[in-house]
Amino acid sequence: MGPIQQSEALLLFAMARVTQPQVLVEFGFNQGDSAANFLRALPPSSAVHSYDISEMSRTLALKLKDRHPNFHYHHKSQIDFVPTDVADRSVNFVFIDAAHDLHINQATWRAVEPALAADAIIAVHDTGTWHRQHFLPIHETMSKENPERWLNSNEYQHQIGERQFVNWIVASTNFVALHFHASSVLRHGLTILQNKCLLPITTNEVR
Ligand SMILES: C[S@@+](CC[C@H](N)C(=O)[O-])C[C@H]1O[C@@H](n2cnc3c(N)ncnc32)[C@H](O)[C@@H]1O
Repeated sequence: MGPIQQSEALLLFAMARVTQPQVLVEFGFNQGDSAANFLRALPPSSAVHSYDISEMSRTLALKLKDRHPNFHYHHKSQIDFVPTDVADRSVNFVFIDAAHDLHINQATWRAVEPALAADAIIAVHDTGTWHRQHFLPIHETMSKENPERWLNSNEYQHQIGERQFVNWIVASTNFVALHFHASSVLRHGLTILQNKCLLPITTNEVR
């Protein structure tokens, strides 16, 4: 619970390694697992910015900064992103894994969206459902605390705010979504968003 799952770390690692974002912004540092994963995937020329509001995160982030000069920790809420945080550079990759709240994510989106590169990739964590057959005792306990989050008799929406946020983006912007969800394992789930566009191509026919 808390950090991204190892399989999800693999996916995010591969996406970062393949696309090599020059500026990556992460909302939700926690103990730094996902930030360290991005830093391992990226060259020192890529700047990784992470935001959190917990004192534990502030302390742990200092240690990560010692090892990675290209890491920048911002001790403030995700909604307080300003372009000067990233030296007014375009943001190529955003990872959202912090408040898990629709309204906070919407405010964050309004703050970040003007700074996004045209082909920016947005990864939103916790958009999947937990399938009952894979529950451990902790999932039983958590699902009993918020019984209204059952989508049906088998699927539990552990972070409904992230699901609402993704639906809001798809309904109100030009972004399209690809969901990395699973029913065969206990998966928190990731959604990848990117502006819908046609690839530019030459008009001359190539023979
Ligand atoms: C699920 S944890 C992040 C896990 C981390 N991404 C990882 O995979 O290792 C969520 C974090 O978001 C932070 N958080 C909650 N509300 C926030 C807000 N409004 N702004 C920034 N961080 C917030 C919490 O303090 C917590 O550390």
